[in-house]
Amino acid sequence: MAVIRIAAILKPSKMADIWRLFGWLAPFPSLARNRTMVLSLTNMATNFMCASRTSGRVPHRATLTPLLLKYKRKLTCIPVDEVYLIPELNPEYIVLLVSGATASIGLDKSARITAGEKVLITAAAGGAGHIAVQWAKAAGCYVIGTCSTEEKEKVLKELGCDRVINYKKEDLAEVLRKEYQSGIDVIWETIGGQVFETCIKNIANRGRIVIVGGISSYKSEDSFMPKLDLSFLPELLLFKSAAVLGFRRAAYRECFASYFKFLSESLQKGDLKTIIDNGEKPAGNEFFGMEGIIKGVEHLHTGKSIGKVIARLY
Ligand SMILES: NC(=O)c1ccc[n+]([C@@H]2O[C@H](COP(=O)([O-])OP(=O)(O)OC[C@H]3O[C@@H](n4cnc5c(N)ncnc54)[C@H](OP(=O)(O)O)[C@@H]3O)[C@@H](O)[C@H]2O)c1
Repeated sequence: MAVIRIAAILKPSKMADIWRLFGWLAPFPSLARNRTMVLSLTNMATNFMCASRTSGRVPHRATLTPLLLKYKRKLTCIPVDEVYLIPELNPEYIVLLVSGATASIGLDKSARITAGEKVLITAAAGGAGHIAVQWAKAAGCYVIGTCSTEEKEKVLKELGCDRVINYKKEDLAEVLRKEYQSGIDVIWETIGGQVFETCIKNIANRGRIVIVGGISSYKSEDSFMPKLDLSFLPELLLFKSAAVLGFRRAAYRECFASYFKFLSESLQKGDLKTIIDNGEKPAGNEFFGMEGIIKGVEHLHTGKSIGKVIARLY
């Protein structure tokens, strides 16, 4: 679930103001540290972002005061490596920030997918899932996607899934056992509990199962991740030379900028498709404001959302 905070390159007419504000930040070491900073100015509907170097100049109070008054409640400072310039104001780029980066970095760096491998993506029609499907297909993998509705089945076929398993119609364990007797090379696991257990029991020799989440227990008050008896695991991993890995996007910050750039270019070229669920289709109204965030989260947990669930803040 993402909250839209659209960014745009600062209009040249505002540039002078920004340079003066950078100058004002320079004396505050914690903010400036003489490194590249970004100012984000919230201007009703749009965040204007601009990256530059601190100038070290302190403007005269008379220059500064009107600027501060103008922007005082709208100014935030964030490091420039957390800001990505986008060519147009389009919410599709929001999908790339979390879901896109998670799927692409996770499959490359953690799962280490290679062409020809069989890759199973759970919640394949979801926010991270629909990007993971396309990323694995583009890498030359055979992709199996799981989902729970016929509408999602259709979406996954359009995205290029070689095999779609609607687990409401077919038994996941049975399909894997019967159709993939040599096992699955890479499993992108976001559900947890019984699904995780089924997946790990169907891993191939030298396979990798990547734990990305455990959505089946997010609403539980007991535990964030489902508790499991995995006493069989060491033996299974040993005999299959297999691995279980955890993946958290935040641990791969150094990859964000290059992956975002690549994903963004792929989107522009039409090589990557993003799917957004902003409430208009399922609920008839766009998820909007704080209430929209709550509705969006509730919608995400119904299991009916398709693609990335987003809400517009302003
Ligand atoms: N590790 C990281 O850095 C990272 C970053 C982002 C997201 N994630 C994780 O990746 C997963 C996907 O996140 P997302 O934001 O893209 O969401 P999402 O996939 O859009 O999540 C919703 C989908 O999960 C599936 N699902 C399966 N069991 C469910 C259950 N018990 N309750 C609700 N939904 C269930 C449903 O699709 P089906 O039709 O397939 O059942 C549902 O549409 C989550 O586990 C999330 O925590 C991890």
